Amino acid sequence: MKILIIGGTNFIGPPVVRQLIAMGHEVSVFHRGKTTTNLPPGVHEILGDRSHLLEMKSKFKQLSPQVVVDMIAYNEQDALTLTNTFEGIAQRVVVISSMDVYRAYDVLWRKESDVVPVPLTEDSSLRQQLCPYREMPSRPINVPIDYEKILVERVVMASNLPGTIIRLPMVYGSRDFRHRLYSYLQRMDDNRPAIVLEDSTARWRGSYGYVENVAYAIALAVTNERATDRIYHVADVEALTEALRITRVGEIAGWQGKVIIVPKSQFPSEWKLPINTEQDWFVDSTRIRQELGYKEIVPLDEALQRTIDWQRTHAPQEPQQFAAPWLLDYAIEDAILSKFR
Ligand SMILES: NC(=O)c1ccc[n+]([C@@H]2O[C@H](COP(=O)([O-])OP(=O)(O)OC[C@H]3O[C@@H](n4cnc5c(N)ncnc54)[C@H](OP(=O)(O)O)[C@@H]3O)[C@@H](O)[C@H]2O)c1
Repeated sequence: MKILIIGGTNFIGPPVVRQLIAMGHEVSVFHRGKTTTNLPPGVHEILGDRSHLLEMKSKFKQLSPQVVVDMIAYNEQDALTLTNTFEGIAQRVVVISSMDVYRAYDVLWRKESDVVPVPLTEDSSLRQQLCPYREMPSRPINVPIDYEKILVERVVMASNLPGTIIRLPMVYGSRDFRHRLYSYLQRMDDNRPAIVLEDSTARWRGSYGYVENVAYAIALAVTNERATDRIYHVADVEALTEALRITRVGEIAGWQGKVIIVPKSQFPSEWKLPINTEQDWFVDSTRIRQELGYKEIVPLDEALQRTIDWQRTHAPQEPQQFAAPWLLDYAIEDAILSKFR
């Protein structure tokens, strides 16, 4: 198959490219040329900015990809440009979306109060307020202010061009520019005796996905016509509690300390989490497993080991930016721990 990937040279894209090449497909990657990586031999690069996709329509007609994968459609305009450019050229588009489309996300961020039942399915209710990052004090790296995957999905699913939507969880692995494991690993490598968690945080469950597994799932959706007009979750099969997840990371990292769970009453009175940990945020990923035969190609412990190895040699330049909001600073943590000795 001839496949065109928009984006594809930074975090999740390269393993998608490698999967598709390994499956024997012909892959082209469209990006600006600002982010480079070692792509497998034979991958064709097309340079340009996605805001000018439509102007390059004749070039894409010549290329005639059967499936276009849009890794980086962030707002309504991105989706409209995508569908207008590839209608009449491609047979299908596969668009990467996110678990943040669900109403549960607004409950998690305290914009709504009624807790939503979990696990979330692909039919769970969506957020009612659009553009979640408009009034947030900080937004994830590489995400524009008018980011809204709900609008992206709506445009793609309403278009004449058949589409597939993949809703991703929190993705971790090599080249993770959000450094999702960093704040735990740093404490472990600093030989902290314990990581203190407030009990509701310790119980909290969210969906994560290892980048190579996520890439394999995307490759299955790209190459399987059954995925036409379907929406799929991808996530690690089991959503561990945060306490168990940190413990697992610690075991693999060789940490001698342990996770200590304490009631909120032991925390400083002014301490307030920005998120509502009563709202779990994990998904049921049965649909992609049953319909496309997806299963993890890298088991959890191996996925964590590879991520730890990468993270240890790629500390972020501004670590504070990646601090998990539920972790205390060392002095406060020491004061709490002294009461338990
Ligand atoms: N990471 C997560 O935990 C997570 C969770 C849920 C959903 N997602 C979704 O996963 C997708 C992110 O994939 P990713 O992490 O691989 O993306 P990424 O690392 O941000 O990669 C961006 C890619 O797009 C290219 N690019 C950026 N701006 C461009 C433009 N204006 N025109 C053309 N190319 C452009 C970049 O290359 P150049 O710089 O060379 O242009 C690069 O290849 C997003 O849709 C995100 O919402 C991620």
